[in-house]
This record gives sequence, structure tokens and C-alpha cells, in this order.
Amino acid sequence: MKALFDLLAAAGSGRTPMHMPGHKRNTALAAYLKSLGADRDITEIPGFDNLHAPRGILKEAMAKAAGVFQAEHTFFLVNGSTVGMLAAVRALTRPGDGILLARNSHLCAYNAVSLNGLDPEYIYPGLSQEWQITASLSPRAVEEAILKRPFARALVITSPTYEGVLSDLPGIIRLAQGHGIPVIVDEAHGAHLGLNPLFPDGAVKAGADIVIQSLHKTLPSLTQTALAHVRDASLAREMQRQLGVFETTSPSYLLMASIDGCVGLIRERGEELFAHWGEALAAFDRLAGGLKHLQVMGYGRHHGTLPQNIWGLDPGKLLISTLPSSMTGPGLARCLREEWRIEPEMALPQGVLAMTGMGDSVDTLSRLGKALREIDQRLGPREGKKAPRAMPTAQRAVPMHQAERAPFRLAAMETTSGCVCAEQLTVYPPGVPILVPGEVISPEAIDYLRAARADGAALLGTRSQDEGFTAILQDA
Ligand SMILES: Cc1ncc(COP(=O)(O)O)c(C=O)c1O
Repeated sequence: MKALFDLLAAAGSGRTPMHMPGHKRNTALAAYLKSLGADRDITEIPGFDNLHAPRGILKEAMAKAAGVFQAEHTFFLVNGSTVGMLAAVRALTRPGDGILLARNSHLCAYNAVSLNGLDPEYIYPGLSQEWQITASLSPRAVEEAILKRPFARALVITSPTYEGVLSDLPGIIRLAQGHGIPVIVDEAHGAHLGLNPLFPDGAVKAGADIVIQSLHKTLPSLTQTALAHVRDASLAREMQRQLGVFETTSPSYLLMASIDGCVGLIRERGEELFAHWGEALAAFDRLAGGLKHLQVMGYGRHHGTLPQNIWGLDPGKLLISTLPSSMTGPGLARCLREEWRIEPEMALPQGVLAMTGMGDSVDTLSRLGKALREIDQRLGPREGKKAPRAMPTAQRAVPMHQAERAPFRLAAMETTSGCVCAEQLTVYPPGVPILVPGEVISPEAIDYLRAARADGAALLGTRSQDEGFTAILQDA
């Protein structure tokens, strides 16, 4: 089977395009069209199938992807994991249904809950004191939520998290499915799991009903590309229908060719490329092994003792903690950027997250290792540690979908204790909402948000533009 990318090269030859896109594959119009590959950018012309009713080459390409990812049914997504999560939640629920939602879910999961008028029961993950990050979701916490809401229509969890923390998916999925509750795993950060012994198994192997993966986050594929894997045939038909609701009717063939190319690359050269990734990580470990002050959670760490409350780690995520040192996360990020021209994925108050991916090499990760070693030599020990902040517990006053539509006003955040929030307030990154519409703003939530801001994190309100203000319901 020829790769979609190669088929696109010949797609237009000999045909005069009296159809979209308007650039007409005329790359002589502008340099950007040439560089961005507009000569391969087609629409659903005969022979090129339709993503929303696949019967030809796209159906074959998705079947090939299902084979590589060992899934029953696989869908290409051209609007990231976001569209997959929206469609997955809607495929499994009806308006008003109960849903079990890990509280550390990405904002797209909350949007799915709100759009469908669902009634969420939150499950709180543990906290890692040592690394000051959200830890794994325990099967016990899931079980407690199931006992409270035995009629919930789905369980939504994230594994791995942004920082690379894995939860006990086999245990959690067995538990939920044993109670008749299907499981959606947001595996946006784990498309590389389960494909090679370098990385642990992921959600498909653990038997999740729907798994959503961003290819673009860790594998060689263009931004926005993602996959949805579905276990059951009738659920797959519903997923297809829901993707028709949320996903563009003009999916980019360039993005689809990127997905197909990535799948082909893994099938044909996966072993070799994973081996390179492993060598690059090992080179990093050798250089960063003797750090005195900075501490790395990631690669080699997954072989040793795991931090408390953490069930497993994605070795590909390198969380570099500055907690034992005299430096802060933003300080380390600045140093890496300004002195080494290394741009980290995110800076947290307590460290820096470096994401590795299949495109990394021994060179790139050695450079990071060397930089850390050199920076580490200049550091001293930290005096006194800050206590980690647990996510504040939510207290709902009004259903989320109603609060989103109700009249609101803006108020200075400090004055909103006891008011009902009218927007999603997200600390970014990692994009996990701390307050959602309809929740009572507690003094703990204000403290949490204030501290996050003081630590240099961005607070994104979906209504308030100014960081000092918050949208609250007018009449609650
Ligand atoms: C856990 C998680 N889920 C979903 C998403 C959304 O993924 P995408 O950007 O591919 O739409 C993200 C994005 O960062 C994420 O971190």
C-alpha cells in the first residue's frame, strides 16, 4: 500500500482543479505555499476518499494504523486530541448523565462535560510531595467514585499526565468495566507507549474503551495530528458520527498524510527509531547522572524506586526539579534558553519539564545533559522547602452548562471568596482548570491561584482577560 503522502504528489497531475482549495496547488503564487507543501494540499477529489465516510484509501490507512497500535478501530484526527475527547465523551453519554472525571483532566474534557450537560463526579489524584506534582489516580479513589455514582456512563482519566505520571490503567479499567462503566483514557501524551519495550504499555493494551492520543506531542507528526482508538464496533460507529459533529468537513490531506507517514515510519523503522531514542535518553542519563542539586524524574528513574503515590513513569518525560537547589524553575528555564539556546516545554515553580520525542538525537539530549551538569555546578542547596500545593477541592453550586450561560460580572479575584465562578480558570501550562463554571470560589482556590501567579504561571480565564479579575455569576 502506497503512503498517502506519495499518492498526493500525483493527485493533481493532469487535472485542472476547479475545486477547493483556492490556491489551486499553484505554488508559484508565493513562497509560503511552496514551503508548506500546497502542491499536495487537495480536497476530497475522486480516488481520495472522505474522512467522514471512509471507504477507500483513508479507510485502508486507518486500518493500517489500527494494526500498528494494536487497536480494534482507529480514527485519524486532524484537530488534535481535543476533538477526540469531545467526540469520545459525547459518544458514550446522553445529556444529564453522570460521568466520573479525574480532576486533573485537560480543559477539553471539562468542555466535553459542559457541552453535553453532564453531571461530573470528580476523582482527585494523589500528590507527590517529593516532586510537588499531581501523582497517579489510585484504583481506590476510582472505586469510591464508582460506589457513589454506580450509574455513571463513563470514566475519563489522563495517563500519562503532562509530567509523565502513569496510573494503574489495567487495575482501574478492570474495576470500572467490572461495574459496567466504559473508560476513556486521555493518552494525549502517550502515543509512543506500548510500541516498543523502551516504554511501558499504554491504554490500548490495558483494554480502555476509547483511547485518545496526540501523535504530534511525542511522535514524528505535524501539530494537530492525533488518533482515536475504539475497542467495540458499535461504539466505533457512534464515534465516527460524533467526529462528524466536532471535526472539520475539510480535513487537511497534508495532516492526514502526516499521520499516515508517522504510522508507516513506526511500522517500517520503529525498532531502529526507538533504539535511537533510547540511546539519546541513555546519553542524557550518563551526563545528568551525577547532578548534586538538580534532580531528574524521567528516563533512568523508571527503573528504580518510584516516588510516593506514583504508580509509573513515562521515561520520555524529563522533569528537572530545582527543589533541592538554590534555583527556581523559571530561573532554570531562563538559563537554558539564554545560555544554551534550549527551549523547555514548560517551567514550573519547582522545576522545568523537558519533553523528549522520536525526533531527538544523542546530540540534542547530550546538550541538555551537559547544560544541566554545568548549571548544577554553580548551584547551592536550597534552604527550606515550600510545602506542595494540593489542588483545591471543588464545591459545585450550579451545573457547569447552566453557569456557562448565566449572566456574570467581573470582580477582583481577592474579593470573590464564596461567589460562584462563571468561567474556567486554568493554570497554564499544563492546562488543568482549577475552577470551572458553577463552582464556589473557596479561599483555598484563591490562595492556590494567587500562589501560581506569583510563581510565574499564566492564569487563563475563559471570560476574564485581566489576570487580577475573575468572572462570577451575577445572581448566585
Ligand atoms: C492531557 C491533555 N489532553 C488533551 C490535550 C489536547 O491535545 P491537543 O493539543 O492535541 O488537542 C492536551 C494538550 O496539551 C493535554 O495535555
